[in-house]
Amino acid sequence: MSPTEIFRQLTGHDPQGVWAAPGRVNLIGEHTDYNEGLVLPFAIEARSEVAAGRRDDGVVRVLSLQKPGDLVEADAAGVGPGQAVGWSAYVLGVVWALRQAGHDVGGADLVLDGRVPSGSGLSSSASVECAAALALAELYGLDLPGERLATLAQQAENDVVGAPTGPMDQRASMLCTEGHALLLDTRDMSTEQVPLNPAASGLALLVVDSRVHHEHTDNAYGDRRRSCEQATSELGLRALRDVPLDGLEETLRRLSTDELRSRVRHVVTDNARTRTVSEALCRGDWTTVGQAMTASHASMRDDYEISCPELDLLVDAALDAGASGARMTGGGFGGCAVVLTRADLVDTVSANVQKAFARAGYDEPRPFVVRPSAGARRLS
Ligand code: GLA
Repeated sequence: MSPTEIFRQLTGHDPQGVWAAPGRVNLIGEHTDYNEGLVLPFAIEARSEVAAGRRDDGVVRVLSLQKPGDLVEADAAGVGPGQAVGWSAYVLGVVWALRQAGHDVGGADLVLDGRVPSGSGLSSSASVECAAALALAELYGLDLPGERLATLAQQAENDVVGAPTGPMDQRASMLCTEGHALLLDTRDMSTEQVPLNPAASGLALLVVDSRVHHEHTDNAYGDRRRSCEQATSELGLRALRDVPLDGLEETLRRLSTDELRSRVRHVVTDNARTRTVSEALCRGDWTTVGQAMTASHASMRDDYEISCPELDLLVDAALDAGASGARMTGGGFGGCAVVLTRADLVDTVSANVQKAFARAGYDEPRPFVVRPSAGARRLS
C-alpha cells in the first residue's frame, strides 16, 4: 500500500500532500565534509516518501510502512535531544530542529515510506529527514530554501539521532538535480551542479551493496573526526582543508603520530581528487574520473582505514572484470561501493563481484545501476 492509502486509514482523510527526498551516492570526497573540504555526491532514484497533514492539537504522529503497527506519538513541543529514540528520531528530530530555529511547527500526521536501504552508505537517514523537513515546512507555510532545510535536517541527525555526521548528506538529498553531481564546498556551503551523464558516453554507474551493515553512531566515525580535530590543532590551522597538497609530506612530518599523518594524507588527497574529478566531468574525461575513484579507495583503505575486507574485494573484483574505477562510498566500514564501468560490462562486472564473494564465503552482494536523479520535492 502507498503512504497515501495508509495515511487515509490512519486519519480518515486525505493527506495535504506527499513529499519525497532521495538517497545519495558520493562519487568522491569522503570524510572531507567535516574538514571544510569538497564533496561530489549525486542523488539516486531510491527515495523516502512522506504523506502528511497538519493537526491542530500539537501532537505529532509518525507511522512507517517499514515498521507497521509501531505508531509513534509525541507532543511537538516536547521532542528534542534525548527525547526520541529509534527510527522516529529522524522525523521528530526535524520537528525539534524547526522549532528550536524559531519556526512555529505544531502537530502533524506523517506516514513514511523509507525506500532507501538503511545501513548501506546511501543516506537513508538524510532522505527521511529531508522528506519530513520539506513536508513540515510546507504544512506550516514556512518559506525556507533547501539549503536552510538541509541545515536543520543535519541538526536533527547530529543532536537528536546522535550521529556526529557532516553536512554532505542532507544537502545532497535536498539540492541535487537530475543528470548532475553536486559539488559542495563545505567551507562556505556554496554549490555547483556538475554534469554527470555516464550513459551518454556508453558508461554506467553501478552500485554494489556489500551487505556489511554500518552505523554512524558507532565510535569509528567519531574517532576519525577527533583525529582530524587533533591534527588541525597540532598544525595550528582552521581546518584540514587548509593543508596544501604541495609539500604535503613535509607538513605531515609536523604531526605527532603516524596515524595522524595517514588520516591527514587521506583528507588532503581526497579533497584534491574531488576537484580533479569535477573538472574532468566538465570536459568529459572519464578516464581521469575512474582513476581518481580507484585512488580514492586505496586512500580510504590504507590511510583513513575505513574500508573492510568485503569492500576491498568488491573493488578489486570490479576492476579485474574491466571496470574503469571503483571505490567504497559513504562513511565506510561497510555499505556500498560505486563502480564506473562501460555499460556493456555491467553484467560481467556484477558477476565477477558475485563470484568473488561466493568464493570468499561472504553474503551475496547486491549490484544495481544508478542514475543521477532529482533532489527533494513535492510529489502531489
Ligand atoms: C557519512 C556522513 C557524511 C560524510 C560521509 C563520509 O555519510 O553522514 O557527513 O562525512 O559519511 O564522507
